[in-house]
Amino acid sequence: MALKLILLPLVFLHCLCFLEAKPLLPPPFHINQTDLLNYLHLENFNNITTNLPAIYVFGDSYIDSGNNNFLPTTSKANFLPNGVDFDRSIPTGRATNGRTVVDFIAQVAGLPFPPAMLGMSESERKTTLTGLNYGSASSGILPLPPMALKLFIELFKNTTKSLKEKFKTVECFDNYMSKSLFFIHIGTNDLGISWDIERNRNFTTAETYAYFLTKEFSSKLKAIYQLGARKFLVNNVSPLGCQPFNIITKNHTSSCVEEVNERVAFYNGLLPKLFEELEISLKGSKFVLCDLYKVFQDVYAMPSAYGFSNVNGSCCIDKEGNGTRPCTKNVAPCNDRNSHVFFDPFHPSENMHFLWVRRFLKDDSICSPMTLYKLMQL
Ligand SMILES: *[C@@H]1O[C@H](CO)[C@@H](O)[C@H](O)[C@H]1NC(C)=O
Ligand SMILES: *[C@@H]1O[C@H](CO)[C@@H](O)[C@H](O)[C@H]1NC(C)=O
Ligand SMILES: *[C@@H]1O[C@H](CO)[C@@H](O)[C@H](O)[C@H]1NC(C)=O
Ligand SMILES: *[C@@H]1O[C@H](CO)[C@@H](O)[C@H](O)[C@H]1NC(C)=O
Ligand SMILES: *[C@@H]1O[C@H](CO)[C@@H](O)[C@H](O)[C@H]1NC(C)=O
Ligand SMILES: *[C@@H]1O[C@H](CO)[C@@H](O)[C@H](O)[C@H]1NC(C)=O
Ligand SMILES: *[C@@H]1O[C@H](CO)[C@@H](O)[C@H](O)[C@H]1NC(C)=O
Repeated sequence: MALKLILLPLVFLHCLCFLEAKPLLPPPFHINQTDLLNYLHLENFNNITTNLPAIYVFGDSYIDSGNNNFLPTTSKANFLPNGVDFDRSIPTGRATNGRTVVDFIAQVAGLPFPPAMLGMSESERKTTLTGLNYGSASSGILPLPPMALKLFIELFKNTTKSLKEKFKTVECFDNYMSKSLFFIHIGTNDLGISWDIERNRNFTTAETYAYFLTKEFSSKLKAIYQLGARKFLVNNVSPLGCQPFNIITKNHTSSCVEEVNERVAFYNGLLPKLFEELEISLKGSKFVLCDLYKVFQDVYAMPSAYGFSNVNGSCCIDKEGNGTRPCTKNVAPCNDRNSHVFFDPFHPSENMHFLWVRRFLKDDSICSPMTLYKLMQL
């Protein structure tokens, strides 16, 4: 690998600062904040401690921590081998083998993992001050039955009503909300399965669809802002054309399905301007846009530099055995899970989630106008 690094062209120098000599593996499940900051070499990063009372999460199956368990969706993950590397190998509804990017952020912030809100009792929702997860498998910006971002925003609205009563003054509540992180990962389903349905109806091109999506996304983010959110970390959409499912089921001439990636890239291209506009129009807001697409692309360009040897296959076993289906219940997955980018044909492995958080935390070529770690300290 040393030789490979020397041969890299100059344009990769920026990346080199980030790449560790030996790629870091996910840390032990039980690790305290101090140890994790050390593990990530973040201890004296800007020499500031994090300033984050809570993490609220909105989005889809990449970050769902179990809401789908309570919903009539067909995409379930509440059985092994999902969770095989989670605490005591317990499946939770996370569609991966271990922790997600959100869990790692919580560990960095010294907070509990944001629990799936649908799994909490009414009274737990009203008293939890460290954040909740409103993400759900199958949800999208557009109302994709049965789940839509809109419904979760309504649920969040109800939560904020009761949470307000926990604070002495409205100012205290506003301050709490403005310091909290709002982590958003959505659009995957809109640009994937929803497009296949929508294009046959109202939309003539992927471009008109992308414009429509950003308009809808903008109005959803405004609704979350109206409820008090200020610190937004928004992911763009990853290169879905490189998901094992798409590679196996769709025509392509390069290593990924170009048509899908082009659709995603066009949509992603509209986001920087959208967030600049939102930040100007929504007083006190901070929108950090992170380039998850690039995190994946960089892995595809140099898998071994990031510790991956399999970028295009599912790690778990499916019934048909052709790598296009979700994991089969209680069938052991591959052993070398950390060397796989994908755990199943759609979802990243824990190690990919860990790389995702590392680059967001530290790399200002990925997050703009600041890194996640900086945003956490605002
Ligand atoms: C974190 O864990 C380490 C052991 O791994 C321990 O030495 C240290 O005191 C702990 N720190 C805190 C703040 O609990
Ligand atoms: C970090 O900040 C504290 C106080 O703000 C200071 O005492 C300490 O020396 C600083 N550490 C480093 C490594 O700059
Ligand atoms: C929010 O609370 C109101 C009043 O209690 C209730 O009628 C409504 O169904 C709740 N919304 C959701 C999405 O649960
Ligand atoms: C698309 O068509 C469906 C069904 O005809 C309709 O319900 C929906 O509002 C339309 N969407 C747009 C963006 O026009
Ligand atoms: C793939 O390409 C072949 C030949 O052009 C075509 O017959 C087939 O329908 C295509 N399959 C898909 C899934 O688009
Ligand atoms: C996955 O990548 C490997 C190595 O580049 C390649 O040999 C294989 O054909 C790819 N598999 C698929 C399904 O594209
Ligand atoms: C995978 O297997 C399923 C079930 O047998 C089948 O419907 C599907 O067409 C297969 N896909 C591929 C790419 O072989």
